[in-house]
Amino acid sequence: MKVSNICCIGAGYVGGPTMTMIAAKCPHIKVNVVDINKKRIDSWNDPDVSNIPIYEPGLSDLVKKTRGKNLFFTTDVNQAILDADMIFISVNTPTKTYGVGKGMAADLKYIELCARQIAEVATTDKIIVEKSTLPVRTAEALRSILDNTGNGVHFDILSNPEFLAEGTAVSDLLNPDRVLIGAENTEKGKKAQQALVDVYSNWVSQERILTTNVWSSELSKLTANAFLAQRVSSINALSELCEVTEADVNEVARAIGTDSRIGAKFLQSSVGFGGSCFQKDILNLVYIAQTYGLQEVADYWEQVIIMNDHQKRRFAKKIVKTLFNTVSGKKITLLGWAFKKDTNDTRESAAIYVADYLLNEQAEVTVYDPKVTNEQIYSDLNYLGTRSDEENRRLLKVENNPMKAVENAHATAVLTEWDEFVQYDWKQIYEHMLKPAFLFDGRMLLDHEKMKQIGFDVYTIGKG
Ligand code: UDX
Ligand code: UDX
Repeated sequence: MKVSNICCIGAGYVGGPTMTMIAAKCPHIKVNVVDINKKRIDSWNDPDVSNIPIYEPGLSDLVKKTRGKNLFFTTDVNQAILDADMIFISVNTPTKTYGVGKGMAADLKYIELCARQIAEVATTDKIIVEKSTLPVRTAEALRSILDNTGNGVHFDILSNPEFLAEGTAVSDLLNPDRVLIGAENTEKGKKAQQALVDVYSNWVSQERILTTNVWSSELSKLTANAFLAQRVSSINALSELCEVTEADVNEVARAIGTDSRIGAKFLQSSVGFGGSCFQKDILNLVYIAQTYGLQEVADYWEQVIIMNDHQKRRFAKKIVKTLFNTVSGKKITLLGWAFKKDTNDTRESAAIYVADYLLNEQAEVTVYDPKVTNEQIYSDLNYLGTRSDEENRRLLKVENNPMKAVENAHATAVLTEWDEFVQYDWKQIYEHMLKPAFLFDGRMLLDHEKMKQIGFDVYTIGKG
């Protein structure tokens, strides 16, 4: 079977870039990206491609090349479903905030809504591709909804988890380490799997396309994220030990990373990992293990999250302690709000939790981030529900000029590793700040010896 029309439900951080790449590499396939959020679709269609809703290096250019040719963004979900041979589901699957599994399980209500809509609308056979990260055996639930509510047409279900990392989405999509496609073990299932293999084969070499059964594919996505996050928590656990001994966590990371069995990547100690996936997927894994009565397995993975929460909290605590045990009424400037550099995504960013802690200590927090909007910063804080929206606006200021942001600050803290922070005139920053000028580097980003020479009192994660 040859795919000529693809629909993707969900124009988010995953759906948007992934479909743009498919459109760019498969000019013979028409790709419709749909979303219920009209505002989001409107910005994907903005005549000025620098206004698309997601900031990713290289993405605007790709959108410019493909949009209106074989890539379309629309809110007409039904028409896109009707026209498609293959439908990717790329809607969000947040952690449940209510009922059974609250705070742990993935909320599948959007996935279910999509499945019901597809079943209701489809008049021809479709291949359904799970792109969203899902708990193992979600395909079973999808199958049940599709078969019981459909118009008698046939659905094949594939699992094709996305491994792109934000900030490098375009290059990850262009040169993936692997593409994983799980299928049901039936003749039709295999044919559907081959149809998706053929789509990716337009630019990914065969040996990088792995085919498995559906359950392995679903579980592999959770496992990959759990392993990656576990490395960050492991090095962060060591960073605390380094601070009380005379070891330097960067030196330790380099020393162990050269062991080819361990490898050098994902050993960068930080103020804690963020992002939409790591915490959610581990909680999900923990919940699944618990559901099957595997308490030790659940506890083992939960520790990765406990360590990460500890890392964020201890960084904030360190600021308070260093500033003579009180930050009340003191101006503290946070450089960076995004959960990593080169993205405007702030989901689960460590900065949110550090800011909240400092606000509880009555600090006057000022934030500067090169890509995150003011509204996003307030909305992240308000979402925590620690204090009223008005109070957040009164206590926290967002500044769009970094030099202004640090003016008269008691302390400056680096929370995201944006390249531009390294380029700043730190001598000038020092002059703008109150003395003693405290500098907290949550990303081990700056040249600390140089900072000390300028006159800063420097604290950095992982160094005594
Ligand atoms: C999402 C999931 O969070 C992640 O687990 C998965 O791996 C990929 O999809 P992301 O693309 O980052 O990640 O989410 P988000 O940016 O929130 O985009 C989801 C989009 O789906 C939103 O624009 C939302 O409006 C849309 N949506 C949601 C629908 O179009 N229909 C729905 O019923 C629900
Ligand atoms: C992650 C996975 O890498 C990706 O494969 C999956 O599809 C989605 O989840 P993402 O969350 O976009 O991607 O970014 P990633 O680069 O993995 O970083 C996650 C967090 O860990 C960031 O806050 C980052 O700053 C932090 N991190 C990463 C560290 O603190 N140290 C490291 O060494 C690496």
